[in-house]
Amino acid sequence: MNESHSDESCTNESPMNKPRENESYTNASYVSDVRSSVPRWIIYITVVAVVMSWLPLALIARARAMRSSDPKIHIVQDMGIQPKYKAQARSEIFADSRAMRPNVPDTIARGQLRDDDHLYRGRVNDDWAKYNAVPITEALVRRGQQRFEIYCAPCHGLAGAGDGPIHQRAVKLGEPKWVPPALLVNQQRREQVEGYLFDIITNGIRNMPAYGPQVLTEDRWAIIAYLRALQLSRDVSIQEVPVSERDRLR
Ligand code: HEC
Repeated sequence: MNESHSDESCTNESPMNKPRENESYTNASYVSDVRSSVPRWIIYITVVAVVMSWLPLALIARARAMRSSDPKIHIVQDMGIQPKYKAQARSEIFADSRAMRPNVPDTIARGQLRDDDHLYRGRVNDDWAKYNAVPITEALVRRGQQRFEIYCAPCHGLAGAGDGPIHQRAVKLGEPKWVPPALLVNQQRREQVEGYLFDIITNGIRNMPAYGPQVLTEDRWAIIAYLRALQLSRDVSIQEVPVSERDRLR
């Protein structure tokens, strides 16, 4: 049986009518007869077509694995490719070939002068400002509460008691280097002037990070306005409560 099979595939002369001596008409030899009756050119074309069909896959696989300096094939352009310079790019327009241009000396962009020392640095006459730089309104205090609860309460706690969730977790994990957030509602904090508090929020202090880069200038002042309200709500002597309100205290 093996013999007859190899014979046929070598010679490929239609063997159907060739009588063979030790040929037994099993299923296998019947199948090989049918196969060899398919014209050769169809087999060639099929093989070539199958191989060609792998080509796109092979090209995609190659493109994914190899680096190229050519831009990507971008079928839908949208805004993906724009005529613009990216940071640190070259440009032959300028003599020094830098697309990024240095600031023009002694110029400040419109609206960015920041010459108000009180507002931007919490300083008045070379000392810490003793008043808020923004007029205190109920809206400001409410804004301050909202900002405080976002930016300060995670560490200092909603009531400023130094027991926010970050602190609680650090204690639970037994972090050896954890510095507890300061209590914000004691007498010492009440005596710290607004300008100093503004500086702490803006630039951070010791282990507390700076919030100037995240919280807008006016919002930092709003937080201080709210902090004052929080301090009054927590730690105040009966003498400071207006007489008309004292009856309402329990
Ligand atoms: C990531 C945690 C964290 C956040 C958020 C945080 N603080 Fe603090 N804060 C601390 C820690 C810790 C200290 C104590 C720093 C030290 O003593 O090293 C501190 C100290 C302070 C102090 C006392 C500084 C002094 O004079 O000793 C004030 C006031 C204060 N924070 C205000 C704020 C305000 C207002 C916010 C919100 C804008 C804020 N903190 C957000 C961790 C935080």
